[in-house]
Amino acid sequence: MSIFTSKHILLGVTGSIAAYKSADLASKLTQAGAQVDCILTPSAEKFISALTFQSVTGRKAFTDADLWGGEAHVLHVGLGHSADLLVIAPCTANTLGQLAHGLADTLLTITALASRCPLLIAPAMDVGIYTHSATQENLSILAKRGAYFAGPAEGRMASGLIGMGRFIEPVELLGYIRFVLGSGGKLSGKKIVVTAGGTQEPLDPVRMLTNRSSGKQGYAIAQAAIDAGGTVVLITAPASSIPPVGAKVVPVQTAREMLDAVLAESSGADALVMAAAVADFHPKTVAEYKLKKKDGIPQIELEATGDILLAVANLGSRKPQVVIGFAAESRDLLENAGIKLISKKLDMLVANDISAPDAGFGVETNRVTLMFPNAKEETLPLMSKTEVAETIITHLGVLLENR
Ligand code: CTP
Repeated sequence: MSIFTSKHILLGVTGSIAAYKSADLASKLTQAGAQVDCILTPSAEKFISALTFQSVTGRKAFTDADLWGGEAHVLHVGLGHSADLLVIAPCTANTLGQLAHGLADTLLTITALASRCPLLIAPAMDVGIYTHSATQENLSILAKRGAYFAGPAEGRMASGLIGMGRFIEPVELLGYIRFVLGSGGKLSGKKIVVTAGGTQEPLDPVRMLTNRSSGKQGYAIAQAAIDAGGTVVLITAPASSIPPVGAKVVPVQTAREMLDAVLAESSGADALVMAAAVADFHPKTVAEYKLKKKDGIPQIELEATGDILLAVANLGSRKPQVVIGFAAESRDLLENAGIKLISKKLDMLVANDISAPDAGFGVETNRVTLMFPNAKEETLPLMSKTEVAETIITHLGVLLENR
């Protein structure tokens, strides 16, 4: 079940040229399962109509005409009452100022005062307006009051100027919304270290040994942990996915770098999920210059990299309370995976048959069996990597609870 399912989100839209992007946001939130009520300020209506929002959300979009209509006595305080989140995107400098100072002359700003749910603001304004000390002071007033911010980004403005003040892209804003909705969840206050991607072991300045891991499963686990309110550190070898909003990202390349990062971050952490495909061997020496054909076929001597999970198992009292590993197997899945569960002293192991075309490296789906030290096993059906990640995080929550 997605974090957006059945969430009631109020989307405030103010008078910025970026208002059209907000319709895309409303559509994405609705498709993800949220119930989205949009409130447009009079200036927003000059850029985009309520009908656009009604069309993408399937629900009435509110304007100041409703503030002065027959239902106003209920509506002006009622909209905010059942909301899980108020997002104001895009938010102009004027609305920002009103929010900071408790002014309320539109349905949106009245709703903001009447709501008790978290407030997420995505500012959009010209660089000069954004950097003005009045705007900056308003931002810090709201930050002190606990408001969350998404952006602004740096880039080209409608005015042609380049600088800070651009509305962030809806897809990135979704990440911020997830982060705020997740805060206070089951993993709240827990530090969860997740590794992802396939390490790269250099041979010379242009070549390396690596594997087919895309990082998708590890990134999905990091996102699921953030959705559950965890404080997530994502230690990632090069991967094709975009890190989830809210994760502290530690980029690494080699198995050695991943080992150092995991030991530094997991000491004292609540949990470690080792989803990375770590190289077991690396070239004993890395050539300083590119290996040339004219010098003949190189004889490459490999040496072991050292097992990260074994090193974590030896951390003693500094070992994370819960350690989850993966097993990538191409034959005798459960037998080989069971050996890893015990030898690496894991609390749970995710056994992955990488020989199946719809599971393992590179694809969107996965087929896994969860294994536990008490010999309990749970074979999951074919699932998206997101669903596998959510299941792993649910188990992680239970394991942490039982510590
Ligand atoms: N792993 C690790 N350090 C390594 C190699 C793997 O911590 N040097 C972790 C992986 O992140 C995974 C688990 O150990 O969580 C199992 O990895 P896998 O590649 O399936 O097995 P290996 O231990 O490398 O053994 P083999 O390659 O012989 O199957």
